[in-house]
Amino acid sequence: MIKGSGTSLDARSAPAERTPVRIGVLGLGTVGQALLRLLAASQSRIERRIGRRLAVTHVALRDPQRRRDCDLSAVALSTDPRAVVTADVDVVVELIGGISPARELVLAALAAGKAVVTANKALLAESGGEIFSAAEIAGQPLGFEAAVGGGIPIIKALREGLAANRIDEIAGIINGTSNYILTEMSRRGIAFEVALGRAQRLGYAEADPRFDVDGIDAAHKLAILAAIAFATPPDFAAIQRDGLARVHPDDIRLAGELGYRIKPLAIAKRHGGGLELRVHPTLVPHAHPLALVDGSVNAVRVKGDAVGQTLYIGRGAGGLPTASAVLADLIEIARTRGCAAVLPPALGWPQASLAPLPVLPTAATVSSFYLRLRVADTPGVLRAITAHLAEAEISVEAILQKEPEAGADAQLAIITSAVTAADFEQALAQIRALDFVRPDHSCLRVEHFDD
Ligand code: HSE
Repeated sequence: MIKGSGTSLDARSAPAERTPVRIGVLGLGTVGQALLRLLAASQSRIERRIGRRLAVTHVALRDPQRRRDCDLSAVALSTDPRAVVTADVDVVVELIGGISPARELVLAALAAGKAVVTANKALLAESGGEIFSAAEIAGQPLGFEAAVGGGIPIIKALREGLAANRIDEIAGIINGTSNYILTEMSRRGIAFEVALGRAQRLGYAEADPRFDVDGIDAAHKLAILAAIAFATPPDFAAIQRDGLARVHPDDIRLAGELGYRIKPLAIAKRHGGGLELRVHPTLVPHAHPLALVDGSVNAVRVKGDAVGQTLYIGRGAGGLPTASAVLADLIEIARTRGCAAVLPPALGWPQASLAPLPVLPTAATVSSFYLRLRVADTPGVLRAITAHLAEAEISVEAILQKEPEAGADAQLAIITSAVTAADFEQALAQIRALDFVRPDHSCLRVEHFDD
């Protein structure tokens, strides 16, 4: 273990009510450094709230020589995260990300009787069953507010604030990078790659940005929200997912002219005894609150049977917003330390009460669709296309035709009525087989909300 230059806190000699809660942090990237800065800045407020200090006593980091933007003078540093897990700490904060070794470290910390706070959505979405059960068996709190929605307290809202409700629908923008990219493409007309580069420099993107742009990160988060909302084990693999590659700058422009904005939505709906779970760029009516959420900001709309629609908006990515959520978990754990039974189970439901729910196949899910086609500028084109839609009992809700340059193809954008994905795909196959329809086309889902 590499020792920091400052003095270490001797928790055991302090009077009981003043004993600091000793924290070991695994990973000192953007969020880890922001956590240390935030803790230093808010220490006196925390002490006033809970009557004790939070002390980061140990940190595991990959490169101890790298310059960090936080004070490490009173911290024992190590390049070995296992040394921090086995150190004399009360809480382990996992900010490494990814499945392994995060999974093994979290399980080891819980087995050693330590509380855990993690921002690791991938871990909870893909190995959540094992992790939540381990926390329950160990009788240790597991905080993961930072795993979804950055600084928005959506976990607490869903698990506790809305506990009296049967949740029927969640729809949210839960990947800040995707929202930032679509916003920049739409506002400034900049290319996808340029917008992604900026999101990476701002610290929003995942280590592998494909997790952001392919909808994997949003699907991880949706799996966690769905587990809390529907009392079902997290099921990342069941989520239907489309990435930003589907969105062409023409779609952003045409959607705008039709009265919509394209947002990276994650959607979970309850249907009878089953669920619909999907993540994709979606057209949202431009006046809907979700359409107005721009940049790296996240927003989650939750519909409960008693409360109706609720909406949570805030910074969903970046160091300080995420550290805000991590620190909230730490404060709650410190406040309830020694009486963990007063905390709700991690997902709000005892593990034994969770029941897997069948997930609707994509083909059976219903929504309106946006369709962009390039067609030869000849008479009868519109009639033939709408005839195929009518045959499948799909109405055209809106249509836009851009007048072509002389001799060029025309561009059409259509918004359909609500239809199953299977019926839409069938009609689309027939439309694409028409002679005058060019091979390149684009189709995206449209979400109309009843609020
Ligand atoms: N890459 C994630 C995002 C970070 O852009 O939302 C926050 O989870």
